[in-house]
Amino acid sequence: MYAATLSTRKEPYERCSPPFKERVEEGSFSLDTERRFHHDKSQMRYFVEPDKTPNFDLRNGYSDRYIKRDENVRKNLEHILQWILANKSKLMQRTDASYVSSALADFDFVTSRGRLTKVLCTPYEGQTEWSLAVTKFQGVFYINEVETENACRGRQNRTESHEENIYWGYKFEQYICADKVDGEPDSTGVVNSNEAFYSVVRTRLSDHRLLYSGEVDCRDKDPKAPAPPACYVELKTSGEMHTEKQRSKFHRFKLLKWWAQSFLLGVPRIVAGFKNDDGLVVSVRTYQTAEIPQLVQGEYLGWKPEVCMNFCSDFLSFVKRVVIEDDPHVVYLFSRKALSDVTFTVHRNSSYSFLPDWYVKEMS
Ligand code: A3P
Ligand code: MG
Repeated sequence: MYAATLSTRKEPYERCSPPFKERVEEGSFSLDTERRFHHDKSQMRYFVEPDKTPNFDLRNGYSDRYIKRDENVRKNLEHILQWILANKSKLMQRTDASYVSSALADFDFVTSRGRLTKVLCTPYEGQTEWSLAVTKFQGVFYINEVETENACRGRQNRTESHEENIYWGYKFEQYICADKVDGEPDSTGVVNSNEAFYSVVRTRLSDHRLLYSGEVDCRDKDPKAPAPPACYVELKTSGEMHTEKQRSKFHRFKLLKWWAQSFLLGVPRIVAGFKNDDGLVVSVRTYQTAEIPQLVQGEYLGWKPEVCMNFCSDFLSFVKRVVIEDDPHVVYLFSRKALSDVTFTVHRNSSYSFLPDWYVKEMS
């Protein structure tokens, strides 16, 4: 018998960090202006170092040069599944055995970096709710996300200023990224949030072999830069800080998210623009992902990376114990409600099913 719930308190996870292998890039893909999948690097962008006090105007273009991704279209895991099919023979060759029953024989989990970030942050985000749908198919656990009712309501009732703030994040990227290796950023162009470049990485956490995708903002343009993902750069914006309370909130919540997101993908550098209320970037600071945990150490109510990694490892073990039925139409829904532990329910042939028929057919 195993426990039917998983604790989300910090205390059970305060032990040595579990082994987390280096992230190795297995491949990449791009999403174009209409969010169509391309098995190439066409959306790769190149980092151009900004001034320390650049005064970028993030409002520029919001009303006339912004094409916003339709957030009602939920892609589940479709893009990484498309990538898997495009790489099926390569993935099969990776396995030593002469008889391989599945292209994914080397992996236990397929998911996305965003879903894992939510898991990592859970012990420190008591109010955050999530629902993760898991299907076991040919021995591999696919982890998808189901938008909670609260998240859906929040998204549909965003204020205009929240919407504009989201634009500001993309606009910051445009001020810093060039489309070509020898190019310059073009802030007069259109911001289209459909466009994206994704890295697909392989790694191992404890005995869990993982394959997941994550969006990459840009890369170091120096041809001598280390191989991906070590050459990648994450871009972020955050409000200018004036008080100790603001700094503490930034350390406790934002740096935790930034660290988790970049650490999972093996992105070593985060370039942050601090903006004022008028949407001007007043300063820029670079964070080394590996050094972020030290910045919050000793902070009252800080966070510890090993708690995040142990919780993630234990969550994946919990999933392996609970998800027994190997069937593409069966979903085990793992839910974390505010201030609660993780619980699960089982759904057969329900609207939660997410593995597309084209994928199941091609893999069978
Ligand atoms: P910032 O996080 O820098 O403000 P990422 O940093 O993960 O690459 O995301 C890039 C940008 O996407 C974010 O920039 C933010 O502007 C935007 N974004 C998209 N969807 C969002 C959402 N649901 N909530 C907040 N920001 C979102
Ligand atoms: Mg970013």
